[in-house]
Amino acid sequence: MDVSLVQVSNISRSFGGHLALDDISFTVARGEILGVIGRSGAGKSSLLRCLGALDRPDAGHIVIEGHNLTTLPQGQLVSLRRRIGFVFQHFNLLGSRTVAGNISLPLEIAGMPRAQRRKRIAELLSLVGLSDHAHKWPAQLSGGQKQRVGIARALANAPVLLLCDEATSALDPETTTSILDLLARINRELGLTIIMITHEMDVIRRIATHLVILDHGHMIENGPTLDILGADTQSPVTQALLSETQPRVPPAIRAKLVETPVPGAHVVIRLRMGGTAADQPVLSTLGQRFGVDAIVLAGGTNEIAGQPFADMIVCLSDYSTEIQDFLHGFDPSLKVLGYVPADH
Ligand SMILES: Nc1ncnc2c1ncn2[C@@H]1O[C@H](COP(=O)(O)OP(=O)(O)OP(=O)(O)O)[C@@H](O)[C@H]1O
Ligand SMILES: [Mg+2]
Repeated sequence: MDVSLVQVSNISRSFGGHLALDDISFTVARGEILGVIGRSGAGKSSLLRCLGALDRPDAGHIVIEGHNLTTLPQGQLVSLRRRIGFVFQHFNLLGSRTVAGNISLPLEIAGMPRAQRRKRIAELLSLVGLSDHAHKWPAQLSGGQKQRVGIARALANAPVLLLCDEATSALDPETTTSILDLLARINRELGLTIIMITHEMDVIRRIATHLVILDHGHMIENGPTLDILGADTQSPVTQALLSETQPRVPPAIRAKLVETPVPGAHVVIRLRMGGTAADQPVLSTLGQRFGVDAIVLAGGTNEIAGQPFADMIVCLSDYSTEIQDFLHGFDPSLKVLGYVPADH
């Protein structure tokens, strides 16, 4: 059985001779959270508009639930579009309607009777944690609350796919966390497939199970988030996108760092461990088994797509062959960043 909900095959889209999307292909399985990331102008919004049937690619096909968006007659396209929810960066709420009124709109368009609508709106308000705000106006809400309304409205007609365009980019870090938590919960509880585009790697790292990286209209990575972020080698674009969230050697240590080993020097390494290795007390074992002082200079253990992933810069008082072998068992891609000569 084909579990993929979305199949994108060789799509291209150009604007006035400029190729915004160049031969892009990937699939999205049901229940996945796919993050699409890339720098400004990479083609993210162009891709999302094609996925949401708001625009047609010049070449290639997009198939959602077996329907080919690129060949579907206009009439059927309208009903398919109703099965796709959109969440926007700037919420796009109607200021002339209350919270409940905004959520009601797609239900009214779908022709749902009033009594049924009222029940559905109450369910949606409860799902997004806004039951007490039904009769407020958008102007009375915080950014995070507005986005919750946007999400409830997008979910109103029980879509099979939720498309989010920079859904958290207008929000502060704390509110971003609460919106990402909400999206992850909706994905878990409703099994809803989500495609979210963003330019923030931190957003991807926190909730995307799968990842597409775009650059100048080209797809340069596609796969499970953990595989791409945990890979030994990454493309320069991937590294650049990652660098903002990666641990760095503190400046005071960096100033002392030399490239070649010096007797008695401490060693600074970058240690990355995914899966079960990330849960092991590797550093304390180093101390107990080898009598080494291991100090974390930067980074720590975080989650990628709900799984622990350790990424840290560690200073070790010794780096014998036994210690190297031990650490390589946890991180085959371990890198020595330099040596800090002992103070005299
Ligand atoms: N309607 C349009 N008309 C002309 N050019 C367009 C149009 N839409 C997109 N483009 C061009 O296509 C390229 C990709 O744009 P797109 O908006 O998809 O990028 P993006 O990755 O969403 O960028 P951002 O992070 O800035 O939102 C850009 O060079 C842009 O100028
Ligand atoms: Mg965009």
